[in-house]
Amino acid sequence: MKTIKLGIVGFGFMGHCDAESLATFSDDEIKLVAVADTNPEQLKDAPEGVETYGSIEEMLEKADINTVMISTPNPSHLEMVEKSANVGKHIICEKPAAMSVEQFDRMVEVTKKNNVLFTVHQQRRWDKDYRIMKEVYDRKMVGDMYVIKSQLYGFNGNMHDWHVFPEMGGGMLYDWGVHLIDQILNMVDSKIDSIFADMRNVINEKVDDYFNILIKFKNGITAEIELGTYYLTPKRAWFIGGNKGSALIDGFDGEGKIVRTAHLLENVPGKITMTAAGPTRSFGPAAPGLLIDEPLPEVNVAQRDYFVHFIKAFNGEEEIIVKPEQVRRVLSVMDAVRKSAASGEAVKFE
Ligand SMILES: NC(=O)c1ccc[n+]([C@@H]2O[C@H](COP(=O)([O-])OP(=O)(O)OC[C@H]3O[C@@H](n4cnc5c(N)ncnc54)[C@H](O)[C@@H]3O)[C@@H](O)[C@H]2O)c1
Repeated sequence: MKTIKLGIVGFGFMGHCDAESLATFSDDEIKLVAVADTNPEQLKDAPEGVETYGSIEEMLEKADINTVMISTPNPSHLEMVEKSANVGKHIICEKPAAMSVEQFDRMVEVTKKNNVLFTVHQQRRWDKDYRIMKEVYDRKMVGDMYVIKSQLYGFNGNMHDWHVFPEMGGGMLYDWGVHLIDQILNMVDSKIDSIFADMRNVINEKVDDYFNILIKFKNGITAEIELGTYYLTPKRAWFIGGNKGSALIDGFDGEGKIVRTAHLLENVPGKITMTAAGPTRSFGPAAPGLLIDEPLPEVNVAQRDYFVHFIKAFNGEEEIIVKPEQVRRVLSVMDAVRKSAASGEAVKFE
């Protein structure tokens, strides 16, 4: 086995998180050799035995590394990729890889030219809630599906740190949007027909803190991705609707159920229910025994699985799992989201 000798550039929040995750691997698999940050304060708690540098240039020159993990703010990613690739280092870049598709194409070009591995840390593909719903999707557990909803609501409306500055790649589309779109594109195995989106600055002046994105796939499924940082009813929820049931999740832990009806496709006689909003024959509470709850599938995943796959790819045992062409598609969807939100029109895609 070849050892990944890693240097992290940008030892802030995510640099620290990644170092913790990497510490769960053996030194033979992946060894954190060095960290670099322009702010000396960030280097003070570098793990014991890990070299510290004040810049990427110094780290690339002096540290015995073969791979760089880029965890600096978004606009610096291109420069970091170019510098690392040009001295032959393999690259794991934090998301969003680039500020635009054009920037990303330059990254792909320089990494191809230098024949180095290039991948992006889209580790939310291994989130438990997502993986359960992907399992429901892959196994067609609710039959032929027509809708998938991915919802993320928070209460901490103000963005933190550099996330409030558009020129720093701030805003929620760059922050969580890139993960939520990546999850959906890696679940639904179809080309996209069109994209419609609403994006807003609810309480943040300069960057988006709310979006609602509708992705209409050519296989007939519509995915809705809604995020609000100032929703004041925090939740992470999923819904998949199919012709043989509904699947729902409430929370990052993946708590939820599959619901089916005992009378599928039977002509159930209309039962009039009186509600506060008047009588209804279709939308009152279900009669006892009509709805059946089933458990969601079990999954055994963790975000560190991203690195398990990277180690295999580094050793030639499998292909890179987060592929540049997938990352490019997500960034293209983000462009379409912005275009649709600005014009108020749906954007044709693929
Ligand atoms: N994969 C994920 O789930 C996830 C989660 C959070 C953040 N991120 C991404 O990680 C990146 C960093 O975000 P963060 O929240 O850790 O930010 P942060 O501000 O906490 O950390 C960034 C660090 O980079 C350093 N830095 C800035 N410019 C530098 C330069 N030119 N050279 C060396 N160091 C420099 C800063 O001093 C800081 O310590 C962003 O791209 C962000 O989108 C990814």
